[in-house]
Amino acid sequence: MLLRTQLDVSSDTFTANQEHHEAAWRAVADVIRAHKAGGSPKAAARHKERGKLLVRERVAQLLDPGTPFLELSVLAGHGLYREFAERDSDALLTERGPCASGGVVTGIGIVAGQPVAVMANDPTVKGGSYFPITLKKHLRLQAIAANFRLPCVYLVDSGGAFLPMQEEVFPDREHFGRIFYNMAQLSAAGLPQLSVVLGRSTAGGAYVPAMSDEVVMVRGASAIYLGGPPLVEAATGERVSDEELGGADVHCRISGVADRMEKDEASALAAMREIVATLPRPHAATPPHPPQEPLRSADELTGVVPVNPSQPYDPREILVRVIDAGDFVEFKPHYGVTLVCGIARIMGFPVAILANFGPLDAAAALKASHFVQMADQRRIPLLFLQNIPGFFVGKAHERAGIARDGAKMVRCVANASVPKLTLVVGGSHGAGNYSMCGRAYDPHLLFAWPSAKVSVMSGEAAASVLTTIKTAQYEARNTSVDQAQLASLRQKTLADYAQKSEVKYGSARLWDDGVIAPRDTRNVLGLALSALASGLPPQPTTAWGVYRM
Ligand code: COA
Repeated sequence: MLLRTQLDVSSDTFTANQEHHEAAWRAVADVIRAHKAGGSPKAAARHKERGKLLVRERVAQLLDPGTPFLELSVLAGHGLYREFAERDSDALLTERGPCASGGVVTGIGIVAGQPVAVMANDPTVKGGSYFPITLKKHLRLQAIAANFRLPCVYLVDSGGAFLPMQEEVFPDREHFGRIFYNMAQLSAAGLPQLSVVLGRSTAGGAYVPAMSDEVVMVRGASAIYLGGPPLVEAATGERVSDEELGGADVHCRISGVADRMEKDEASALAAMREIVATLPRPHAATPPHPPQEPLRSADELTGVVPVNPSQPYDPREILVRVIDAGDFVEFKPHYGVTLVCGIARIMGFPVAILANFGPLDAAAALKASHFVQMADQRRIPLLFLQNIPGFFVGKAHERAGIARDGAKMVRCVANASVPKLTLVVGGSHGAGNYSMCGRAYDPHLLFAWPSAKVSVMSGEAAASVLTTIKTAQYEARNTSVDQAQLASLRQKTLADYAQKSEVKYGSARLWDDGVIAPRDTRNVLGLALSALASGLPPQPTTAWGVYRM
């Protein structure tokens, strides 16, 4: 069925939309560049002087030349921990703060022809030590590896826990120890755990290589130890150099903690490529259908999205610029029309799409529940395109039991066993966020456009609720309403919601897996679907994973 769209905007509006959204993307792209610059320039210069590669250069050398890297959460850590930052004359670096990209690069890339999950510490960010957000990003990558069934390659160069914040990275369930727990679980699930140690791997961090199936080290430049030389001297009085304590010679010849010793970083990364090439080949990521170009250009995507985030628009306008050949088998097109459901292909991979066209009502929730079950039974991955103010509210809807019908949709989305991908293109509010597979519903990946706004309700709605409550309190006390106080409450709420629902704020805290340019939507979703289709098969027998002996 050919997707027919009738773009209902004048060319002036289209141009105004485009200018607005392109400017928003350029602003995000500038911030992304500031994160990709890495830690302080001083730290980067010192790192280069030592003859070392920067973190993204390391990742590039690991991956197959010319293949795309789906880098995740580049904005992690944005604006956080500024109390630990050095003064910087560059306004963007000051806004970014000390924890560029959360101090760690993660993503899905191709090594020796197969997709792998990559985690690489950035030693120019406070010695590669783990802030709370570093940890969250590392654990997220492991969750992605588990969901996609991908081997993990860790490029280790880290001073372990960021000591001034140890209470936020060490003791709790989702803290440092969870990295190694996950490595044991991933290994037992048949997913190889592999490390290249390119610098220090200290204290708790020593367990990343120690828990790996195979470990490559660089002679004279990498070290693994539970306590570094200063700690050893303090604890035992023994004076020992890095190399004597935990260098490549020690671990590859004496302790057996590592396996291969290479002369430099380039050869160590090449050695890891050789190791990955020995893994069982996943089934090829060739799409089941020949990929076909969309009917309309991706460059038009920003033109179809209104400047005003609360103005509804037909999501088919997005789909026709993303899916293959405009081929969309729409489900119940005349029922529950505020949700568009249908099956399409992206780069030849089938996908079952749910896209908002206004608030959800009971019919839309029932249609979604039916559609999700069907996609699950047919083993088609789900894609949620979120632009959702929430569910309809009011007496009639409550009496018709909208909470019950919404709960059906939430249950189907939560329990669907096919992979789920979510893209937040506009608002993501209230129970709409839940039922459209927001972060808490564990989508395999969740991306956001610069126009995304995530909050329990819109700022306008929150300001109205809070001022209505305040007015009712005055009335209950029979006192006259303090209009100045109400106005100030309203202004404060609007400003707070505007700042905290902005995409940079959420991405900094890992509420998503990255902010993408609208025109890259098809490439990003296509890469994700192809990685999903080529994960390793489930491990039928292993109970314990690989012990390092
Ligand atoms: N916690 C907090 N900050 C740390 C840190 C940690 N674990 N490790 C390094 N840093 C900081 C340093 O204070 C320094 O910050 P600054 O730039 O603001 O001065 C920055 O990271 C670089 O450290 P530096 O020692 O100058 O760099 P290096 O490249 O010569 O050495 C390490 C890097 C990681 C080998 C070294 O800093 C180190 O041994 N750190 C402590 C490791 C440790 O014992 N960790 C225990 C964690 S459980």
